[in-house]
Amino acid sequence: MDRIGQASRLVAEALLALREESQPGVKTAELDRFAEAFLLERGAQPAFKGYRGYPCTVCTSVNEEVVHGLPSERRLQEGEILSLDLGAIVEGYYGDAALTVPIGEISPEARRLLQVTREALHRGVAAAVPGQHLTDISHAIQTYVEADGFSVVRIFVGHGIGRALHEEPQIPNFGPPGRGPLLKPGMVLAIEPMVNAGTHEVTILEDRWTAVTQDGSLSAHFEHTIVITEKGPEILTRSETGETW
Ligand code: MF3
Ligand code: CO
Repeated sequence: MDRIGQASRLVAEALLALREESQPGVKTAELDRFAEAFLLERGAQPAFKGYRGYPCTVCTSVNEEVVHGLPSERRLQEGEILSLDLGAIVEGYYGDAALTVPIGEISPEARRLLQVTREALHRGVAAAVPGQHLTDISHAIQTYVEADGFSVVRIFVGHGIGRALHEEPQIPNFGPPGRGPLLKPGMVLAIEPMVNAGTHEVTILEDRWTAVTQDGSLSAHFEHTIVITEKGPEILTRSETGETW
């Protein structure tokens, strides 16, 4: 448990630093090198590199890219949105988190997408209470997102996490409440809504990783690793000083 906490804290600190680095003119490949060095210098390993053949430390998904975007030599531009997804391993234990950051000034629509996706994550986290069912998390996320006219991605889901990046149970970001396992203290979950401004449908590009919205609309992604305690959910992906997103 403590090592999941350490891995998660490093992921949060790296993502907060990456948020500062994400400025117009920066290449996403530079962000990847920054993230890898950040983890290695602190005694942690990248969790995604080599996972099912994924070649990088961080996933960088720009604008209509939903998740699993590959860092590249392309430079970020003012007005874009960038999703940063990062996992770390400390002594065999995993932490995983993501956030979407604005590059300079962004449109009001993009700003609303970021706010709604972030709030959807927090609604999902708030539903992770002992005695509730797993899909109460799913339902809280979906109802909040759709009330704002956006859509939740179906083909990717949140997950249990601990000694592996992906453990049982899967956590869809949609569906009826009251289903699935009962939530219990000690469960560690990665909750991660992916929200599209248009259709929820996504397509995988020829690189076999990058997922994009089918209609080209913007997409955002926020994720936390949390632990359920008797008192309720506790966010593990926060910095030592408690900073998070
Ligand atoms: N946060 C994502 C997940 O939990 C990131 C996985 S990227 C991969 O599935 F490269 F590792 F596949
Ligand atoms: Co995840």
